[in-house]
Amino acid sequence: MNQLKSITNGFLIFSLIFTAVSCKNQKKDTNEIIESKEMSTIEKKEFGTTNNDEKVSLYTLTNDNGMKVEIMTLGGIITSLTAPDKNGTYADVVLGFDVLEPYLEAHPYFGALIGRYGNRIANGKFALDGVEYKLTSDGSTQLHGGRVGFDKAVWTVLNAAVIDGVATLKLKYISKDGEEGYPGKLESIVTYTLDDEDTVQVQYEATTDKKTVVNLTQHSYFNLSGDFSKDILDHEVMINADTYTPVDTGLIPTGEIAMVEGTPFDFRTPKAVGKEINADNEQIKNGGGYDHNWVLTNQNDGIRLVASAYHPTSGRLLEVFSSEPGIQFYTGNFLDATLPGKNGGTYDKRSGLCMETQHYPDSPNKPNFPSTELRPGEKYTTTTSFKFSIK
Ligand code: GLA
Repeated sequence: MNQLKSITNGFLIFSLIFTAVSCKNQKKDTNEIIESKEMSTIEKKEFGTTNNDEKVSLYTLTNDNGMKVEIMTLGGIITSLTAPDKNGTYADVVLGFDVLEPYLEAHPYFGALIGRYGNRIANGKFALDGVEYKLTSDGSTQLHGGRVGFDKAVWTVLNAAVIDGVATLKLKYISKDGEEGYPGKLESIVTYTLDDEDTVQVQYEATTDKKTVVNLTQHSYFNLSGDFSKDILDHEVMINADTYTPVDTGLIPTGEIAMVEGTPFDFRTPKAVGKEINADNEQIKNGGGYDHNWVLTNQNDGIRLVASAYHPTSGRLLEVFSSEPGIQFYTGNFLDATLPGKNGGTYDKRSGLCMETQHYPDSPNKPNFPSTELRPGEKYTTTTSFKFSIK
């Protein structure tokens, strides 16, 4: 039995090295297997360097079933994630690039960790205890943490190991006091795991040395067909929310909490994304489709099912579990076929959908929204899981 196990392990290690070495776009031929227990593994390879000459590494987490998630130290970006269809065929279901270079340029946050503040802060400013903080931004609004958000930072690896049979990657980023205009030195730790239930979990922690605001999220674009030349309008989405936060034409919440009932924003029972995406509705027009925050139900229940997406043709089902009070459901409205796809094509409008679990946009300026403040001595902790299965 043990002999069989070691032969199997030996074969596995050999095939992993072989796969890694023959993998296209790899910068180096060295592929370091950090730990391998049974089938779950975590591997590392170099992925290139940033414009500041910082080395970027790419980690591959694999579970017992052969599902793989690739995450790089730049922005903690998920560059690829495979999920099985109803025939057991694995395909990559997240948008991204084959190589590092396009990730160093402006891109729509493909697969990235977002911080210090996910989504928009109106007029790029807010006040804490009567002190106004002016944030960096390219226009008046700050989006996704500023000009150089957490998505552009190279994160430090605290741990890359198989822990209790689960491939685990623990990343850390220290954001300096004043970075992108925010007060306080913020220390953030994000732990990614891939378990044998085909669940990718993202656990966020943060502490500060001065009162600040924080709202971290993950910005993967999913296309469960595994074919990025197709749009996501046939995906059936469910969002566990009776209300949402309407926005103005600049996508800033008006402060109102509106009922979804009788509107295109009602996803309480699953419905195809395309069904009402072009409805004659002011909010749909403001968002150019769906680009809104839903107010999730059961906010005091901790981690619970908040949303799902199902692709009928492939049978792939994604379920999102989170401890967060809100979710930004974004249908890739700004994608415009200018960015190079992994398969040689380009990413067209609506070729991916995002489910960004979060606190509501512009909370620092909206006293009626759940608070995003973090004080010294407190610990920010949130968890979101993306579970893949077939239906
Ligand atoms: C979020 C925003 C969108 C857009 C994308 C990135 O989902 O709400 O408006 O900025 O990120 O393009």
